[in-house]
Amino acid sequence: MHQDKPSRTAYKVALNVVTLGAKPGMDKFFPPGTVQATENLLVASGAAGARTVRWSRSQRMVSVYEAFDWVLPGQFEAFAHRKAFCERQVRDGIGAGATQILVLGAGYDTLGWRLAPEFSGVNFFEIDHPATARLKSRGIGAIGRRKNLCLIAEDLGERKLSDVLKTDDSWVQDARTVIVAEGLVMYLHPEAVRDLFCQCDVIAGVGSRIAFTYIPIGADGRPDVGRWTGLMLWLQKVAGEPWTWSIRPEDLDLFLEASGWTIAPEQEGRTRKHGVEFYAVATK
Ligand SMILES: C[S@@+](CC[C@H](N)C(=O)[O-])C[C@H]1O[C@@H](n2cnc3c(N)ncnc32)[C@H](O)[C@@H]1O
Repeated sequence: MHQDKPSRTAYKVALNVVTLGAKPGMDKFFPPGTVQATENLLVASGAAGARTVRWSRSQRMVSVYEAFDWVLPGQFEAFAHRKAFCERQVRDGIGAGATQILVLGAGYDTLGWRLAPEFSGVNFFEIDHPATARLKSRGIGAIGRRKNLCLIAEDLGERKLSDVLKTDDSWVQDARTVIVAEGLVMYLHPEAVRDLFCQCDVIAGVGSRIAFTYIPIGADGRPDVGRWTGLMLWLQKVAGEPWTWSIRPEDLDLFLEASGWTIAPEQEGRTRKHGVEFYAVATK
């Protein structure tokens, strides 16, 4: 991706959330406060103008997204389920004793910002590319900093997660942790994904969990998002954020085992899917 520019895909996810929030009936799927917080963050950070956000929440925009849903079937609405999935895992994890939450490739996600005041005894961390993290930090500064939310600006392709967190005094290596990687691993190279899971094993204590979403692999070895896969792969590449990793759901157990994690079907099922992405939870 472009190192010096804020992530386009993070921006698109956030705008999708805003538009989806305007679709009647979707509020029952989104975690409470998600849409409003996303709107506020986008404007306060300068990632989007107030007019863009207003336009994004119009019924006309809902119709535009619905009209283009054939490209990635079901993906428009999937973002509400994705947000709900991640928040459910974080809340369950905290209920089970987690004292740290780490959101990788956080983009303009508001989970940490919304939950930090409710769970004042839990430390929330987010990591993203410097260009995106800096913009977000500006937005968080404007909508209200949280004393237990720490934004870290790092390229995880450049620096190992364990090195990044080692320099942070408030990170506790053996604490029970919930790690969230929502819409991230498809953008990393295969070696980087394997390494990331290994790193997650190093930085988190026993009883931790990692909740993530991924794209399945097709028979031709490329990420498979249905009939328009070729078009989507091209669009992602042109946008500078190509999809580079995917896996067969059946192969996930072995892949994770090699990195110290065990798939936890009791948490989310083995084949939970919304739109073009599968959802998975692994524990250690
Ligand atoms: C599709 S966006 C998802 C954002 C957020 N997780 C969400 O779902 O709302 C992918 C995010 O991963 C971040 N990302 C991709 N590669 C990264 C890397 N090597 N290091 C840090 N962040 C990365 C991008 O900057 C972007 O914010």
